[in-house]
Amino acid sequence: MSTTVVAGCAPAVLQRVERAISHRSGVILHAVGSPLPSNAMTMLAATSSGAAAPVDVVLLGPDVGAERTAAWVAELAALSPHTSVVLLGELGTAELLAALRAGVRDVLGSAAEVDEVRTVLERAAHTAAERRTTSAARVVARSAPTVAPRVITIISPKGGVGKTTVATNLAVGLSAAAPNSTVIVDLDVQFGDVASGLHLTPEHSVLDAVHASGDDTMVLKTFLTPHSSALYALCAPEHPAGADQVSGDDVALLLGQLARQFRFVVVDTSAGLSEHTLGALERTTDLLLLCGMDVPSVRAMRKELDVLDELGMATANRRVVVNSVDSRSGLTLKDIEGMLGCPVDVSLPRSKEVPLSTNCGVPLLAAGSRGSAAKELAKLVALYCPPRARRKSAFRRGAAKRADAPVLADAGAPTAGSAASPLERRGMLNVLGVR
Ligand SMILES: Nc1ncnc2c1ncn2[C@@H]1O[C@H](COP(=O)(O)OP(=O)(O)O)[C@@H](O)[C@H]1O
Ligand SMILES: [Mg+2]
Repeated sequence: MSTTVVAGCAPAVLQRVERAISHRSGVILHAVGSPLPSNAMTMLAATSSGAAAPVDVVLLGPDVGAERTAAWVAELAALSPHTSVVLLGELGTAELLAALRAGVRDVLGSAAEVDEVRTVLERAAHTAAERRTTSAARVVARSAPTVAPRVITIISPKGGVGKTTVATNLAVGLSAAAPNSTVIVDLDVQFGDVASGLHLTPEHSVLDAVHASGDDTMVLKTFLTPHSSALYALCAPEHPAGADQVSGDDVALLLGQLARQFRFVVVDTSAGLSEHTLGALERTTDLLLLCGMDVPSVRAMRKELDVLDELGMATANRRVVVNSVDSRSGLTLKDIEGMLGCPVDVSLPRSKEVPLSTNCGVPLLAAGSRGSAAKELAKLVALYCPPRARRKSAFRRGAAKRADAPVLADAGAPTAGSAASPLERRGMLNVLGVR
């Protein structure tokens, strides 16, 4: 998906542009009517807030005015470096030179026919898409971690208990400490909603990443969707059927690759122990177990813990979060700890703010909430990245030796403490009747 903005053009030109791009699916046309905004920044801001896709092409027509065309081109180049700017109109030599120096990509005469408009806009869009991809890859490449990565996998036996809520908030919180070095992966491959929780419109998904990237990390990075909090997201495919094309081995390979490039890899999963979740567990350094404040949820969690122990997947770094804590539930945290046989690390209160943030696609930690749920979520982030380290933002040399550093020295190696091989584990799961 990409957006083409047309500004300062007569309705007849706009019609030709419409016809020129009508055959290209995924291109949104955004026409800026008169009166024109006072500058390019205002125009771009108005367009971007309404556009679900990046602005790849801006076509500036005669109404922008000869005197300000070059200034707009220069402004657009500074604000959105990947965008291709095309001019339309009869320009004088001096004007043309100024626009070229400011970075204009191409020029069309006022009478250009549909075919010519199509060729020029397609070329401009292609260049912009290439620039966009390369710059995203460069940003991620610069951020390759210098300390051992942490792959934090959020699991729960039941759905609807808050995995995605916790995963998106944790990722946003960690990204504040490790900007451009945190990635969230949606392994609820059938019905994942990380994209919705972060208000993203991904162009690519886990499906593309596992099939097209092979072992090439540079290619893999081009499938990530950037989020405004300097976080990257690898979202679930649009259609549930895509899940069949991703195996547990694909997932393990994918997370290994990401862990070589990112400081924090946060993995959201579907309910239970699916093949994808088991693949993720092979690369997990930190397991985050989530349950609700009700007996069925806690019982199911106890069973899941038992299964993980039987499979030799008792990772050293294990945290337990109880969500939707409510004093009127008839259960106490002590009861839950007793049933689980381990301490509860964080208890998230039931809060009206949470569904609101889900519906808006803005995690509480991205919205700067000061409510009780946000405070507990911040505590959770601190378990993986203490505030001291977050203040420094950049990770110092030797930080891997800190007490909170992951047990796993090599993200490519199986999980510490694993007794069985990946295949054995899956086989054992079949025996246990767990999918
Ligand atoms: N602490 C909470 N208080 C109130 N609502 C919550 C809380 N945690 C999660 N929710 C809501 O519960 C729903 C399911 O959460 P979600 O994170 O999608 O669960 P899962 O990923 O486990 O299926 C969402 O609408 C979310 O806003
Ligand atoms: Mg979910």
